Amino acid sequence: MNSEVLYQAAKEASEHSYSPYSRFRVGAALLCEDGTIIKGANIENRSYGGTICAERNAFTAALSAGHNSFKEIAVFCADAEYPVPPCGICRQFMSEFVDTSFPVHYSGGDGNFIQKSMAELFPEDSLHELKNR
Ligand code: THU
Repeated sequence: MNSEVLYQAAKEASEHSYSPYSRFRVGAALLCEDGTIIKGANIENRSYGGTICAERNAFTAALSAGHNSFKEIAVFCADAEYPVPPCGICRQFMSEFVDTSFPVHYSGGDGNFIQKSMAELFPEDSLHELKNR
């Protein structure tokens, strides 16, 4: 997969952001093992805690459609002046479905993506022992 294709998909996803409260549009594009790209955007709520980030929307859409193995994710923050990595909740959430080498690409509005591994973003998972009970 050419990374540019995934980056473009993340940009497209950000166009569907519902972010009237933060005015911070985010799009995510998740590459599944079979080559399918699943997109997600951040969807906010006036009860602020109900907001769901683009990354988690991409993962829940993919998982709900039957995908369970993932290759990489790109996250485009259209309104940021610097590359914004996934929030803490998203790091915890994603870690449940990917291995430590999973590449996470992220960018601000200039479209210059940087890449880090899941292990770099989430080095210590305190609850991994619960996973395979
Ligand atoms: N947001 C994401 O969707 N992903 C990120 O990686 C950073 C933050 C959203 C949540 C909220 O709707 C807005 O951006 C501002 O935090």
